[in-house]
Amino acid sequence: MSQLHIVDHPLIQHKLTKMRCVETGSKDFRELLDEISMLLGYEVTRDFPLSDVKIKTPITKMVGKEISGKKVAIVPILRAGLGMVNGLVTLLPVARIGHIGLYRDEKTHKPVTYYCKLPEDIDQRIVIVCDPMLATGGSASDAITMLKEKGCKSIRLMCLVSAPEGVKKLQEDHPDVDIYTAAVDEKLNKNCYIVPGLGDAGDRLFGTK
Ligand code: PRP
Ligand code: URA
Repeated sequence: MSQLHIVDHPLIQHKLTKMRCVETGSKDFRELLDEISMLLGYEVTRDFPLSDVKIKTPITKMVGKEISGKKVAIVPILRAGLGMVNGLVTLLPVARIGHIGLYRDEKTHKPVTYYCKLPEDIDQRIVIVCDPMLATGGSASDAITMLKEKGCKSIRLMCLVSAPEGVKKLQEDHPDVDIYTAAVDEKLNKNCYIVPGLGDAGDRLFGTK
């Protein structure tokens, strides 16, 4: 069973509350998502393996630690996942970036794929899929299926706000994928929006409505 990590550091809770507020405009929404993504990234990378490295400080020799093992790929689900890339890249500057484009059909709420461009060696990397909203879970589940079809074996999902329905679907469809989220909200409404949520993340991020 995949693990659900609720990353509810006070700084994240404070910034998320500001993002939820209907009065918060695109500029602040973008900046807050950027900041929270970096804070979430800190937890998403917590289990990265370390190896010893011999170094010299100005005073003496010592054995320090460096991150070892597989390289990383960051894969935002378009559009709203783009808002989480910068924070992660700040932590992981040499990570490769792939893009998966999905939108939810307005009537069925099922995801429709329109784009996929991934690093050639993505199957050799630890993949961090990012999308602020895990609602029905359909988009994240389909994106992860696409990555598995490319051979990816180490995948984790980073979101901001999740619904219990989305967490359940992800855990059923992809029991090997850990979920990192800042909050698990109450439920979905009849339009499959998260309640209380923060509205349409893509529209708020890009100011399209
Ligand atoms: C939003 C969000 C997720 C998806 C979550 O994207 O960014 O990708 O909905 O919903 P689900 O868990 O029910 O699949 P949307 O389809 O609105 O596209 P956009 O980011 O381009 O606005
Ligand atoms: N997509 C969003 O952007 N918000 C929701 O609440 C659900 C799906």
